[in-house]
Amino acid sequence: MTVRSYPFSPLEGLRLDPMYAQLRADEPLSRVRLPYGEEAWLAVRYDDVKMVLSDPRFSRAAANGRDEPRMMPHQSDAGTLNMDPPEHSRLRGFVARAFTTRRIDEFRPRTAEIASELVAAMRAQGPPVDLVTAFATPLPVRVICELLGVPVEDQDKFGVWSEAVVASTSLSPEQIGEYLGAMMEYMYALVAQRRAEPTDDLISAMVKARDEKGRLTEHELVDLAAGLLAAGHETTVTQIPNFVYVLLTHPKARDELVAHPELVPNAVEELMRYVPLVAGTVFARYPTVDIMIGETLVRAGEPVVASLPSANRDERVFTNPEELDFHRPAYPHLGFGHGIHYCFGAQLARMELQVAVATLVEAFPDLRLATPEQDLAWKPGLLVRGLRALPVTW
Ligand code: HEM
Repeated sequence: MTVRSYPFSPLEGLRLDPMYAQLRADEPLSRVRLPYGEEAWLAVRYDDVKMVLSDPRFSRAAANGRDEPRMMPHQSDAGTLNMDPPEHSRLRGFVARAFTTRRIDEFRPRTAEIASELVAAMRAQGPPVDLVTAFATPLPVRVICELLGVPVEDQDKFGVWSEAVVASTSLSPEQIGEYLGAMMEYMYALVAQRRAEPTDDLISAMVKARDEKGRLTEHELVDLAAGLLAAGHETTVTQIPNFVYVLLTHPKARDELVAHPELVPNAVEELMRYVPLVAGTVFARYPTVDIMIGETLVRAGEPVVASLPSANRDERVFTNPEELDFHRPAYPHLGFGHGIHYCFGAQLARMELQVAVATLVEAFPDLRLATPEQDLAWKPGLLVRGLRALPVTW
């Protein structure tokens, strides 16, 4: 069987390599070699990807002792993402008690307020404006920091440190270690401070829950808080400009949202499906027993990686998958993953993305690129695809 080097070709903006469509048709489970680690199986069809992510016969914890196939030189240390039940359920259940739906819903008006403030500042500055620095970065950063209770004056530090979480090669392994260390040290101090003087934020709620139930070590608590802060930064920060870029390069879709803002929630789901945010594959899963994926037998212990962007374009599931269509019948995309590791922040991210798109469409109905599309610069060396800058005008 051919073993292909992965990624199949250099990343180019948000273009999805046509090889995925070819593999979905001819070789749904293929052999690949990622830039680092052992050889792997690659799943590209919707049903297979969903199975790999959710079938309990696949383990993430098994990756810990292996030379995991991966996009970055260092082995991942992704908190709950590196765990199986029962550890995983214990920690996730714990955060879920503090990070409640109610808390996120209550944060929607505050998020809208922050978005309006940022829009006012953009107006005051006048076009052209870089949407990444003026809007897409400060919005999720302020939201996650306020939710967790990180003081405003410390927020900038996290912008720097959290790149360590999504870096593949943009930072050296030493820098990654240094940033993650700094983030943990900061978080230890913040947790201690909230224990001494609790406030009405997520960290205080987590500290209280740990101290009352005692089912968590201090290190686990700090790790969870730092993980949320970092995950809450990079993904949404990157996805907002991706969404706006797609809208501005599909003016019909943008105009449709301007005329029908009630379509924003649908549009956010469709954009989650359409935008291939994940630059490579999800973290490898290891089957604990021999298992059939489609028609292929995968032996216990052979790592499997999966492509979410490919699953989201699977023609078996989505009609005209290459088209952006805000009227699709609801069919769950896999942009937030699936199964026990389904994105913990999905509800928060959805809320932020909806507020961001709705606010921008309403404030700037004629928003457009302020630079030719081919001059836009994309960030290399990250686990996610995103723009360095997105100059816009109105
Ligand atoms: C547009 C924004 C986001 C996208 C596209 C996204 C995507 C994902 C995906 C695909 C996974 C599953 C990975 C896998 O199974 O290998 C995941 C897991 C996770 N995400 Fe997100 N995410 C986003 C925002 C957030 C935010 C805002 C937070 C935190 C506040 C967050 C926290 C997490 C955590 C903690 C996990 C691990 C869950 C577990 O192990 O059970 N994410 N995310």
